[in-house]
This record gives sequence, structure tokens and C-alpha cells, in this order.
Amino acid sequence: MQKPVKTATLHYDGKEIVLPVYAGTVGPNVVDIRKLFAEAEVFTFDPGFTSTAACDSSITYIDGDKGELLYRGYPIEQLAAQSNFLEVCNLLLYGELPTAAQTTDFVNRVTRHTMLHEQMQYFFRGFRRDAHPMATMVGVVGAMSAFYHDSTDINDPWQREVAAIRMIAKMPTIAAWAYKYSIGQPFVYPQNHLDYASNFLHMCFAVPCEPYVVSPVLAKAMDRIMMLHADHEQNASTSTVRLAGSSGANPFACIAAGIACLWGPAHGGANQATLEMLREIATVDRIPEFIRRAKDKNDPFRLMGFGHRVYKNFDPRAKVMKESADEVLDLLGVKHNPLLQVAKELERIALEDEYFIEKKLYPNVDFYSGIILEAMGFPTAMFTPIFAVSRTVGWIAQWKEMIADPTQKIGRPRQLYVGPTRRDYVPVEARG
Ligand code: SDX
Repeated sequence: MQKPVKTATLHYDGKEIVLPVYAGTVGPNVVDIRKLFAEAEVFTFDPGFTSTAACDSSITYIDGDKGELLYRGYPIEQLAAQSNFLEVCNLLLYGELPTAAQTTDFVNRVTRHTMLHEQMQYFFRGFRRDAHPMATMVGVVGAMSAFYHDSTDINDPWQREVAAIRMIAKMPTIAAWAYKYSIGQPFVYPQNHLDYASNFLHMCFAVPCEPYVVSPVLAKAMDRIMMLHADHEQNASTSTVRLAGSSGANPFACIAAGIACLWGPAHGGANQATLEMLREIATVDRIPEFIRRAKDKNDPFRLMGFGHRVYKNFDPRAKVMKESADEVLDLLGVKHNPLLQVAKELERIALEDEYFIEKKLYPNVDFYSGIILEAMGFPTAMFTPIFAVSRTVGWIAQWKEMIADPTQKIGRPRQLYVGPTRRDYVPVEARG
């Protein structure tokens, strides 16, 4: 941490506590409150971490007001248009755009780690066929620590590197096999001659009884979707991975925790929930009813795929996704997609509505992604697993950054206790 740029003074209980303020390279400054409890015996209170920086990081930056997302300083729009997912993985993990030689080495290393230990197939078979693929992924990824013992020592930089490559390489295989298992089809093994996105599509849609040629258009669209989902600062699942990692848990267990958190409909599960919502709306004329419900404080319904903790302007990923939806559907020959029409009209109406304008609610990354994924042939239950495959590099990059930070400590928040004060035990015969 650099030297303080200024100080903040808290006057509390007759004390004056002077707190250092640090500046990053861009974005809000931070008030360092680490000594607050020791000096003033008071906690700060921020249950949703709306105003709390849990770490310093050099990986991803979001400007919510501008609707800007930078991976190691590079705008997501430029990466989505000119880069590819494995190059973005390289950038997020090592901090710079790779040279041609570095790219060849990284792609080779990932390609040669895509297979799973053959015995791990038994984990898939332990699940019911109708298990949600996210349940399977949490189980199988957590079980990886029982197979890859040579990359679980977090204090060994080389083992951390191997675990990172293994996670990035094996997640598509795990997600594809979870899908195959759910539809009763045989597992399809990775093919080293295919690029990352093509290999994933091949493992999902190929069958042993005939050749399957991956559409380059769909592979490019999948690769772009993966780039858009790769990392996103300290979102809930990344914070979960960091918190799990802060105890010294092995990297596979930490990623399994991240997958579990991502599953929630307020987070990565929103892509599935958004498509289910669009299906429920079904026709443009029913949109006003759902807008009304979304605005009704007494109705728990929320417009899925809308709103964001940080973006108070358009999510730049949603813009790229919306363009991609038109392109993919057009190339698939889908002239009229009713869900896309409902989504576009819903966006138009919502963005003109005072409620959404006042609360700065815009479409987020999950609003259009499901439409593309469904058009590609994926069931809604596979939308969040695809998000997890994409976000694995972000989780791993953030985990490595935290583990390598000499100042990192185990995360252990405090609380405002509002429960009963000390009282004596009452034997059951004396209870009312
Ligand atoms: C992701 O953090 C990340 O970066 C996440 C992510 C990533 O890449 O990792 O970007 C991925 O998770 C995107 C978000 C996907 N979730 C959804 O689309 C679910 C629907 N959205 C909401 O549940 C909500 O907008 C959140 C969870 C995304 C953000 O919630 P916040 O920041 O806690 O905001 P809030 O719940 O306090 O809402 C502020 C106000 C509230 O009204 P008031 O209480 O102030 O009157 O806006 C309202 C909310 O009721 N509101 C909505 C709404 N989202 C917020 N009202 C209707 N529909 C919505 N979608």
C-alpha cells in the first residue's frame, strides 16, 4: 500500500481518531479503518459491503457511472472485439497481453490439462440424472482436491500455477460432462486440435455415432461470452473464493465455494432466471404487468437481468451481448425470436420508466446471455455452469493475487450483536 494521500478524522466518544486515506490508480479513495476498533472500540457496519473495499487489486476495474469495465486496464469492448478467451485468461493471470510465444506456451499448457482423472466419472454417476448441473459442478470441483494432491499446497508458487492451469483447463470438461450426464448421453472427451470454445461446444453437442463439426460462428460467440464473464472485481462469488482462500483452503475447494455462491439468482443464476422470466412474460403485451410488479414494494418479483450493485449506467457487457444476440440469431437463421423481441421491448419500456431511471437500473450481463445460449442449443440449466466456466479464470487470478499478498490475513468480519444478553440455563421442568 502506498503512502496515505490524506487523512480522515473520526470524532467519537470524546476521542479523535485520525485514519489514513489511500488512493488507487483510478477510482474512489479508501479510508483505512484497520486500527479503528483498537483505538475507538467501535466497528463500522456495512452488511452488503456497499461502501467497503475488502482488498486492493490490480486485476479488474469497473466505473459504474461510466459503464466501464477494464481487465488489467484494457476495455472489455476492445477485448471482446479483438481478443480471445485464452488470451484474456493470460492477461488476467499474468497482467500483460501475451507475446506470440507466451500465447503458444499458455494454450499448450491449458490444452494438455483438459482431461479429467478417469475415476472422477464415478462422481457424476453418483448424482440423479435430473440434478442441476451446478450441483454436479460444486461436487466434482470440490472432489478435485481428492485427486490432484500435487497442486493443493498453496504455499508453493509452482503448485498454485498448476492448480490455476488445471482449473481453467478442466472446467469446460466438467460442465460439458454434467450436461451430458443430465441428458443421458455418453461423455465426450476433449479434443486437443480444437480451440477452447470449440472444444467445449464439441464436448456438449457431439455424440459418438457421428462426426460433429463445430460452427465457427457459434464458437466465436461462445468465446466472446466467456471473455465477457471472465472477471468482475470483488463480486459475491469472487469474494467467496477470496474468503475461503484466506483460511488456507486448497484452490479446488475455494473454486467449489465460488461456484456455489454464483448459483444464486441474484448473481450468476440470474441468466437462467432471466430467460425463465422472459418465457413467463411470453408476449410484448404482458410487459406492463411485469413492470408494475417489479415496481411494487409488496411484490417480491424483480426484473431479472436488470440492476447492478456497481453499474449505475449500462453494463458494457450487456451491450456487447445484445449485439451478439442479433448476430448469432441471424446467422442461425432465426428470423423471429419472440424472447428477443420481448427482451428488447422490456428494455425499452423499463429504460423510459421513472422507477428504473430514478434507481439507475439498466440491463446487466445476464439480460441477453440466455437468449444466445438457448439459440445455441443449451437448456436454461446450463446457463450458470457456462458462467462458472468463464469466471473460473477470474476466481483463480483473484485467489492467486490474494495468496501472494504478504499482508493478507484470514477474513473474519465482526457484527452488531442484537440478541439476548447473558442469562442462566433453565431446567426443562422450570420452563413455562
Ligand atoms: C451479476 O457483483 C457483480 O459484479 C455481479 C456480476 C458479475 O459479473 O459478477 O455482474 C454478475 O450477478 C449481475 C446481477 C444479476 N442479478 C440480477 O439480474 C437479479 C436482479 N437484480 C437485482 O436483484 C439487483 O439489482 C442486484 C442484486 C443485482 C443488485 O442489488 P443491490 O445492489 O443490493 O441493489 P438493491 O437490491 O439495494 O436495489 C436498489 C433498489 C431497491 O429499491 P429500494 O429498496 O431502494 O426502493 O433498486 C430496486 C430495489 O428494490 N431494484 C430492483 C431491481 N434491482 C434493484 N427493482 C426491480 N427489479 C430489479 N431487478
